[in-house]
Amino acid sequence: MPYPGRAPHGEIGTRTERRCQLTETGLGRGRGINQCFLKPDAEISDNADMSYRIRIEPSGHEFTAEPGESVLAASLRHGLAIPYSCRGGTCTTCMGKVVEGSIRYPGDELPEALDEKEDAVGQALFCLAEPTGDLVIEVREVRDTVDIAPRKLPCRVVEMEPLNHDVMRLALKLPDQDRLQFLAGQYVDILLRDGRRRSYSLANPPHDDALLELHVRDVGNGAFSGQVFGDMQEKALLRLEGPFGQFYLREDSERPALFVAGGTGFAPIKGILEHAFATGTDRRLHLYWGARTRRDLYLHQLPTHWRLEHPNFHYTPCLSEPEKDDLWEGRVGLVHNMLLADYPDLSGFDVYMAGPPGMIAVARRDFERHGLDPERLFSDAFEPAADTQTRT
Ligand SMILES: Cc1cc2nc3c(=O)[nH]c(=O)nc-3n(C[C@H](O)[C@H](O)[C@H](O)COP(=O)(O)OP(=O)(O)OC[C@H]3O[C@@H](n4cnc5c(N)ncnc54)[C@H](O)[C@@H]3O)c2cc1C
Ligand code: FES
Repeated sequence: MPYPGRAPHGEIGTRTERRCQLTETGLGRGRGINQCFLKPDAEISDNADMSYRIRIEPSGHEFTAEPGESVLAASLRHGLAIPYSCRGGTCTTCMGKVVEGSIRYPGDELPEALDEKEDAVGQALFCLAEPTGDLVIEVREVRDTVDIAPRKLPCRVVEMEPLNHDVMRLALKLPDQDRLQFLAGQYVDILLRDGRRRSYSLANPPHDDALLELHVRDVGNGAFSGQVFGDMQEKALLRLEGPFGQFYLREDSERPALFVAGGTGFAPIKGILEHAFATGTDRRLHLYWGARTRRDLYLHQLPTHWRLEHPNFHYTPCLSEPEKDDLWEGRVGLVHNMLLADYPDLSGFDVYMAGPPGMIAVARRDFERHGLDPERLFSDAFEPAADTQTRT
């Protein structure tokens, strides 16, 4: 075995135009069209490029939205998370205030959970509210996992796609009026019928959350993976609870980030990297993906493609036991050793690792010997569930 243990897995306002007079009483607003929470002297940009600038108070974060795009969708696309749950105008989790500028709702109808009085004082449901010009809004932002309470939800398996001989991509759909808020890299627990639970990392980034994506490896007769590789079929109903975990990108850091994925440890790192690309970060990001043989790098083409699209991204795949037929010309050895060969001094880096516990334990020890600050090491060890550990 390669590692001990089990086998691996915007400033607002430029060119100016006075758009509307102060109507703090809400007078003159059409139903569903909160037009005028614009201070009398507020200035808004020309928007010749047809995108709108939105500033969040009190953080001062700015982002742009396209016409027809909700404030929430645009914020997620830029890596800024406003709290949400249903994304359908029924739960009020995303409620905030329009301080300057104007919004509209689809069909020009107020969402179900917003009454006219709230609308009149500038309260808005940002999951549906679409800017019709530049905006200043007041809303809480999700910056940490403690800002997101885990929830139990039913879901339906809508896609089952074998990614190789022993990894299945599951796409899960929540009920129509529900979305799961999470930070890229977190995981959910699948709640089995007999009361046991199994953890799986979310492989999709939060801005792309219509379906939740899991990469499940077949461990051979496993309580959950056994179902996935056994008689589970598309349309199967499951229950999940989440999100959980502290494995997410520390975006307040400017240090280059190194990622180590073992097997399906690629799943949460995929979510984190797709989120980072969406934010447009120019931080150096370097992924080392380790597996036994070529076929175990089950989405090798994806990071290979990212490398072409993102000059700040680097990808080093490593095989520990390549087979003759692999015709492998890449790096051979333990994945964390490959990283150390390239980065012998880790004192200036953040490191993110996910995968088999054996890999994480050995890499942690060796990285710290090479100057990595333990506080800058973030990891998710794919520990087998407690109820199986006594059986081995
Ligand atoms: C935070 C976290 C995130 C995780 N993310 C993922 C993920 O994205 N994808 C994924 O596939 N798994 C992931 N896991 C592991 C996952 O939770 C399960 O432990 C694993 O899928 C096995 O569950 P099972 O019910 O199929 O097998 P079980 O019924 O738990 O186990 C069946 C048998 O297989 C053994 N076994 C369990 N796990 C392994 C293993 N990894 N290798 C070899 N033998 C094993 C058990 O000891 C037992 O003998 C994660 C674990 C954690 C803690
Ligand atoms: S009303 Fe539920 S997220 Fe907006």
